[in-house]
Amino acid sequence: MTLVHPPLVAPMIEGIETEGPTVASTNPARHGEVVAEVRLGGPEVLVAAARVARAAQRGWADVPAPVRGTVIGNFGRLVEDNADALARLVTREIGKPLGEARGEVQEIVDTCRFFLGEGRRLYGETVPSEMPDKQLFTFREPVGVMMVITAGNFPVAVPSWYIVPALLCGNAVVWKPAEYAAACARALTQLAQRAGLPDGVLSMVPASGEATADGLERALEAGVVDKVGFTGSTAVGRRIGELCGRHLQTPCLELGGKNPMVVAPDADIDLAVDGALFGGFGTAGQRCTSLGTLIVHESVYVGFRRRLAAAVENAPIGDPTRDVLYGPLLDARFAAGYERHLELVRGHHSTFGSTAVGRIGVGAPRRGFVGDPAEGLYYHPVVVDGLLPDDELFREETFGPIVGLTTYRTLEEAIELANLPGYGLSSAIYTNDPATVFRFRRGVSAGMVSVNNSTSGAEAHLPFGGNGRSGNGSRQSGRWVLDQVTRWQSVNWDYSGRLQKAQMDTTIPEADLDFRLNS
Ligand code: UN1
Repeated sequence: MTLVHPPLVAPMIEGIETEGPTVASTNPARHGEVVAEVRLGGPEVLVAAARVARAAQRGWADVPAPVRGTVIGNFGRLVEDNADALARLVTREIGKPLGEARGEVQEIVDTCRFFLGEGRRLYGETVPSEMPDKQLFTFREPVGVMMVITAGNFPVAVPSWYIVPALLCGNAVVWKPAEYAAACARALTQLAQRAGLPDGVLSMVPASGEATADGLERALEAGVVDKVGFTGSTAVGRRIGELCGRHLQTPCLELGGKNPMVVAPDADIDLAVDGALFGGFGTAGQRCTSLGTLIVHESVYVGFRRRLAAAVENAPIGDPTRDVLYGPLLDARFAAGYERHLELVRGHHSTFGSTAVGRIGVGAPRRGFVGDPAEGLYYHPVVVDGLLPDDELFREETFGPIVGLTTYRTLEEAIELANLPGYGLSSAIYTNDPATVFRFRRGVSAGMVSVNNSTSGAEAHLPFGGNGRSGNGSRQSGRWVLDQVTRWQSVNWDYSGRLQKAQMDTTIPEADLDFRLNS
């Protein structure tokens, strides 16, 4: 047997070498398998990367947008041609089943394809002036240097939602990925850098949460960061929002969710069960868009519960390289956090979905488990029935394979329950009645609404983002994200040869406003 040393993932900043201790990024499906040794950057490394980005950004912004679009197109091609290796790395480093990991890689390709075309649009407008011989215009300008801070549940797709449009629009980017997904981050950065980006335009710095907060604060104070994109928890999002606010910046925040799914009396119950299974337990419930609480009409509750129980009990769970609904939790830290959430199950609740609640293993086996549960961070799926609006489980994001269940009588009540936790990322309703759909759409506070589809599964070219505890109203994806990575500049050009004063020198023809028709 040959021993292969895991690769070293060090900060990737043009012209800068960093020293320091490393931490291991491990495979959550195989105890002890080190995927990479990760050299974390301290706050000063983040500031140094932002300075390098600042120096490189102007030159990149001078590259014509259609040419930048071609670079983005090449990035997409490289991702596509390396899709299998990248997807396998995602599975190995964070335990996402291979089928889902391939979907995640496809999301990057889709994003690149969309923004390749945007390089030939990036439209401004010509706007009429209120005065003669004067023309008004709008131009989109890059914001400058963007610091992108991302979680590891979508270790390559979600970062690409920021990085691709930011680069297309002529910004430079410093990316701080999750430490436990640093090998994925290195692979994506390598592919982007090979696509033709000039040196320094994209850096990648793995760092701890504290070092990131400190580095961001210093970089903002030094004036070398103009925009922050952050995907992660509500608590950290608040902190980043405060920091940015002090520097008069509005970050792009994509935070947690407690995403409701309403099952109406006329719903196709089998379809709703499929949606609940994937929404609740796909990615082991670790998507921002994962289903939080099922809100089921009391008239269909018994049948829905029975079929959901059968579906969850029979779902294949286990080795993510095989055909499973979900694999291990992302990392030991997430497993510990999830175990704390399991303590919120109370006496008035009943649970179903598996042979036990908690870690799958000796003494708590799972029927049909795929592989050896002792090898990884595997957890039983659990549905918690009898949830009450005041329960913490009803109100807090749980980030793991747990779904709440409650009932409702009127649509107004369902909407109130859906909005109660104060998040507002994704939501779903199962019904075939248009009036129910439109009333729900209008009443729910979520940024995204699925009709007869699960809470997860947004496409790469629709606005993605949330309200309330899920974000500050900013949106990613499609053309909507352009407002995050550019600023509007308006230009007025007077060629009359004299000073025409707006509002004051505007000539309006006289009108006879007292005129009335004789009827
Ligand atoms: C996330 O969990 O941060 O709609 C993103 C979805 C995926 C993206 C989720 N396309 O579930």
